[in-house]
Amino acid sequence: MTDTLKVTKIAESKINQVDFSNLAFGTVFTDHMFVCEYKNGKWQTPEILPYGPLQMDPSAKVFHYGQAVFEGMKAYKDDKGDVYMFRPEENFNRINKSGERLAMPAFEKDYFFDGLNTLLNLDKDWIKPGEGNSLYIRPFVIATENGVSASPSSEYKFVIICAPAQAYYSGEVRVLFADHYSRSADGGVGFAKAAGNYAAQFYPTELAKAKGYNQVVWTDANTHEYLEEAGTMNVFFRVNDTLLTAPTNDRILDGITRKSLIELAKSQGINVEVRPVKVAEIVEAAENGSLKEMFGAGTAAVISPISGFTHKEKAFDLPTMEDAYATKLKKQLTELQANRSEDPFGWRYEVPAIEV
Ligand code: COI
Repeated sequence: MTDTLKVTKIAESKINQVDFSNLAFGTVFTDHMFVCEYKNGKWQTPEILPYGPLQMDPSAKVFHYGQAVFEGMKAYKDDKGDVYMFRPEENFNRINKSGERLAMPAFEKDYFFDGLNTLLNLDKDWIKPGEGNSLYIRPFVIATENGVSASPSSEYKFVIICAPAQAYYSGEVRVLFADHYSRSADGGVGFAKAAGNYAAQFYPTELAKAKGYNQVVWTDANTHEYLEEAGTMNVFFRVNDTLLTAPTNDRILDGITRKSLIELAKSQGINVEVRPVKVAEIVEAAENGSLKEMFGAGTAAVISPISGFTHKEKAFDLPTMEDAYATKLKKQLTELQANRSEDPFGWRYEVPAIEV
């Protein structure tokens, strides 16, 4: 632990008020949070504090210009009570990459890991063992300098909050392929976990929801001919026995679940093609019966099977597959994450037990 991390514990835990068998995603938060401020050109002493409101001036830049980035991570507990994270360094690198695109300063690696390790030790009772349970970890950075001039903030807060989690999507997921609105453009911020990327999807996603879809699968902004990602997830298509997914670029999030699944699938002997995926080929595959599966992949959702899609008013149902890749890969990934299986890839990170 860095000797600079300041810890203030809560007087009394609120854990007994929580019904862990009935959790709506991201609505209940643990007892503590991590906060580190940036000012005078450097990150200040990080702190762990009781979870609670952040006080900010109404002119803080984040409220006006959306200078904000975030991450999504998870912690898992095995049957012995040990706590693990999954490839946390990837999240650390990505939040700094996202921040760079939004003209924000890079965060300190030791602050990030000391903060996370301490937070997870303090709030470890909130992490439940067993299939489907995890603790969703939400690091985020916001611009806190006061004043509405449209320029990068000179002050920030790096915050980490944690929410006990079960499934993100429950029930069937049906999607709409975008043919009008877009999520991101060449040279834009689509690859970054910028808060505004998500806000920009809300309106078209609400329109899709009103028509009975759960999500939009975004297509390239120029032609709407290529399938890119689902906004909260990357997307995979199984045509016959080949798994297809789009390559990452400056419009698509470099998903950690996505890249892990590509490696995991290849290690299982599944043929994986990472290449631009045409809307037309997926429609054709659905028509001729070679489209076997479609699923979304992300930290929150893990793997979310898609039961059908619509493109330009034409709806297609996907078959129910025995031995679905989605089911098999999800089981392998979640078992690896929660220390219920071997980890030949070295992806699991054991959170050191620390006395706090
Ligand atoms: C995640 O999977 O962690 C995400 O960032 C999706 C989120 C918007 C719920």
